[in-house]
Amino acid sequence: MKNNLSNIKKAIKYLNNNECIGIPTETVYGLAGNAYSDLATLKIFRLKKRPKKNPLIVHYSNLQDLKKDCEINNLFLKLYKKYSPGPISFVLKLKKTSKISNNVTNGKKTLAVRFPKHQLTRRLLKKLNYPLAAPSANISKRISPVCKDDVEDEFGKKLKFILDGGRSQIGLESTIISLVDKPEILRLGGFDKKKIKRHIDKKYYKKIGKNKILVPGQGKTHYSPGIPMRLNAINIRKNEAFLLIKKRKERNKNFFYLSKNKNIKEIAKNLYRTLRKVKKSGYKVLAIEKIPKKGIGETINDRLIRAAKKL
Ligand code: TXA
Ligand code: MG
Repeated sequence: MKNNLSNIKKAIKYLNNNECIGIPTETVYGLAGNAYSDLATLKIFRLKKRPKKNPLIVHYSNLQDLKKDCEINNLFLKLYKKYSPGPISFVLKLKKTSKISNNVTNGKKTLAVRFPKHQLTRRLLKKLNYPLAAPSANISKRISPVCKDDVEDEFGKKLKFILDGGRSQIGLESTIISLVDKPEILRLGGFDKKKIKRHIDKKYYKKIGKNKILVPGQGKTHYSPGIPMRLNAINIRKNEAFLLIKKRKERNKNFFYLSKNKNIKEIAKNLYRTLRKVKKSGYKVLAIEKIPKKGIGETINDRLIRAAKKL
């Protein structure tokens, strides 16, 4: 606790100096900087090697602050009250008077916003007088980080500070819904889309095609672990790493369990960490059992299909 306080103080110091830092969230770790600062946000793009045209998500701790930057509407308020803070991001109209740096939106008139639930980051946000722009803390197109070590893996010494908040409990990026015009889910994520569906008029609800790119940062080859992947595998082949979701009787040093009882939340939480571990251990091919599509299983399948695309 005491340690956390001094780390939050450190984080504030870096952020106030226009530096980027790693921050924990319940979805994945973010690479954060002052969203009102041109310099801090430019550094985010540079560090991530992210194309300028791919806008950033901005993180807030409360509605009052968000209202300074965005126009809100009734559907937003309903979803906000029910599901924020949590793994859901909203795309809203940017206010003309907003102080959000142009780098964040690349001149767009909309802004993606999120209220992270992770306690440490909530405490940090409450102490700042600006919101935090924070894309996932990985080099563009790679797997999102779910702990401090993963972030270090990505940026090494180039990143001066990472606020350590343990493992991300959800392990998948937030679900993004646009409320600018017709409500539309732009990215499947760590939030079960069925819950959102309840609040949206069916006539607006669009089914998302498996490979349709709805946001710039979700191209076909995103989320790649950097080695070929065999999906829906039933049995292990020689020299492969095999990712399993249910306990098997036989033992094999190449088995990696995402879950031992098909628990979908556990599978999600362990997925990115395991993909990273397998790549680091030097495996040249990776196989993974079929993942059920129910709930956030749909998101896991979405990510795996992208990750398995030709490198
Ligand atoms: O869970 C998360 O959302 C994590 C944590 C750190 O909050 N962040 C994250 O950010 O995944 P990022 O930058 O890796 O993905 C954000 C996605 C990108 O695909 C981007 O194109 C899209 O959001 N996006 C950002 N602003 C947008 C906007 N105004 N309209 C449509 N899409 C937008
Ligand atoms: Mg990302």
